[in-house]
This record gives sequence, C-alpha cells and structure tokens, in this order.
Amino acid sequence: MNEITRKLQLEAERMASKHPLPAFYTRFKAPLAVARRLFYNHPGVVRLRGIVEPEYNETLGHGVHHSSRVSIDCAALIHIETDGNHMEASAVERLMVIGIYSGVLHDISRDEQNHAQCGARKAREFLRDFSLSHEEIICVSEAIRNHEAFTSTNSSTREWARLVSDCLYDADKFRWGADTFTHMLWHMMDYQNITPRELIGKFPWGMSGAAKILETFRTATGRQFGPEIVENGLEIGREIYHYLLEHFREN
Ligand SMILES: [Fe+2]
Ligand SMILES: [Fe+2]
Repeated sequence: MNEITRKLQLEAERMASKHPLPAFYTRFKAPLAVARRLFYNHPGVVRLRGIVEPEYNETLGHGVHHSSRVSIDCAALIHIETDGNHMEASAVERLMVIGIYSGVLHDISRDEQNHAQCGARKAREFLRDFSLSHEEIICVSEAIRNHEAFTSTNSSTREWARLVSDCLYDADKFRWGADTFTHMLWHMMDYQNITPRELIGKFPWGMSGAAKILETFRTATGRQFGPEIVENGLEIGREIYHYLLEHFREN
C-alpha cells in the first residue's frame, strides 16, 4: 500500500475509534465469543482456512480480514436466530460451523464476473473431501450464490439452509459499516491506483450504495441491528469525505 493511502487508512481508523461500537457487538458478546471459538479452533474450519486463505486476493479488500469477520458474524447470527428454537446445542453448533464454511468461502471467486455463482461452484469442490453431508454442501453453495445484494435469490425449501443463507447475507452486509471505511476502501484504492482527488469524485456514489443496503437485511436480527452498523459506517464515511475535501480538493 502506498504511503498516502496508508496515511488515509490510519486517519480513518482514528476517526472510527471515536465512534461507539454498534449494539450488535456489545449486546451479543456471548454468541460472538462462541462463533470466534469455532472459527479459530474447530478442526474442519482450521483445515479449510489453511487451504483457502492463501488463495484470497488481499488487494481487493476482500481477503482474510473480510472473510473472517463475515464468518464470525454469520455464525453469531445463526446462534442468535436459533435461540428459543429448542434445538440441541450440538445442532446449533453444527449450523454455526456450516455458516463459517460459507463465510470463509463466500468471496473465493471475488476476481471473477458473477463472483457469487463462481464461488458457489468452487465451494462445492473445496468441500468435497470435508465431512459434510451432500445437503450441507448444497447449503453452503446456495448461501454463497445468494450473498449478493440487489439480485434474485434461490430460496431453499429447508428452513435451516435458508437461515444460513440469510445470515451469510446479513453478515456480509454488516461490512458496509465501519469496515468499508477502515479497511476495504483503502485496499481497493491502492489496487486500482486511485488518487485522493479521484476518490473525492467517487465518494458520493459509494456512500449512496451503502445507504441502499440498509433496506435489504434478511434476518430479524439483521433488520434490527444492521441499519445501525451501516449508519455508523456512513458517519465515518462522511468524516473521511470532509477530511479528503479539506486536504486534497483542487483549488
Ligand atoms: Fe461477495
Ligand atoms: Fe463479501
């Protein structure tokens, strides 16, 4: 990453650190801790991450940082959404692991056109020799196919598979919060060789994209807590935009 972009990223991180954590991350500490434990310790997840993570393209801002956060939030959402369903703890944990597999693999084809469809196909190959049932593999694949905003989805008839799909979507869109402005934006800017002045021109368009996501959350928890996460990102975005105008606008 070049020096100016890195400096801008640090400035964005400084601005973001002044904002309180959105309620999702303070209210659901316990499910998030369970999700984190599975992400870092479950043998199947550790094995999959070992295979997949070297393949990520970090330069696009959708690498390990992004997929880790999507995976953990997806599993936490599954935990929250199944609370009160009288499911066995082991069944909930199994579903959380399926959610993590989906999160780890969801942007594996990020460089390709139709990356959701390509990723869905590739995920099936990756998971062939993992101890998952055929239905579980299809569930991961469908969740990945469905994770893009503003496109039609294949709705599974199985409630548990639909839940994984919806949780993956919401966890991915939570990244339109602070993560976009502290992480992804700068990697994309660096990769595409965008100057700060060019970024100023693109900024309002990017912000309007984030605002549209607000209406699209698919789980009850996502609908309740997602808008605050995205709004928090938008506020940070507005501060960065003013900073850019102040320091890089042509006179
Ligand atoms: Fe994606
Ligand atoms: Fe993603």
